[in-house]
Amino acid sequence: MRSQDARQYAAATERNREPILEILLKVLPHRGTILEIASGTGEHAVYFADKFKDCVWLPTDVNPQARASITAWTEHYKCTNVYPPLELDVTEPVWIVENQTASGLLNNSPIVAIVNINMIHISPWAACLGLMALAGRILPVGGILYLYGPFKVGGEHTAVSNAAFDEYLRAQNREWGAIPSPK
Ligand SMILES: C[S@@+](CC[C@H](N)C(=O)[O-])C[C@H]1O[C@@H](n2cnc3c(N)ncnc32)[C@H](O)[C@@H]1O
Repeated sequence: MRSQDARQYAAATERNREPILEILLKVLPHRGTILEIASGTGEHAVYFADKFKDCVWLPTDVNPQARASITAWTEHYKCTNVYPPLELDVTEPVWIVENQTASGLLNNSPIVAIVNINMIHISPWAACLGLMALAGRILPVGGILYLYGPFKVGGEHTAVSNAAFDEYLRAQNREWGAIPSPK
């Protein structure tokens, strides 16, 4: 089977990629390696990498089918500035990219920013904590951690649809999007 057959599609990526890109163009550095956590299908990775030609995009995901899809999309578009996807679980105590950086793989183009789209509300709270803690270790001073997803403001949902989505997600897995109560 050609790896191209592994391409997956997520309809939301076509809807949200333009508004996300508009912000990324303003906040991301235009040189260096951009680490994407939880790249999913890889559609965002190939789309954004094409708009950041002087950067290298480093996609990752914990899920092997997602990584196969990322590779397939990268091959489909013959991307020249996208690394092969790495297996990365944000809840692990040490990220593989820390070893990659230590081993010199990324030294010519250090990680200058992290992009994480639609993950922290569809994973246990530990994933959010892992992302924050380890971003603190990896990013340089002034480095950017960009998050996209549905957020509450002042403890309140900003749209009725987000409240319904929250309920739906918690019905799938009660750990998703849930901040544990203080003990
Ligand atoms: C809703 S998808 C979003 C994918 C992509 N960012 C997008 O917007 O289309 C959530 C992704 O988070 C990944 N994920 C969940 N838990 C994770 C973890 N602990 N570490 C890394 N990735 C994780 C899943 O494998 C999945 O690809």
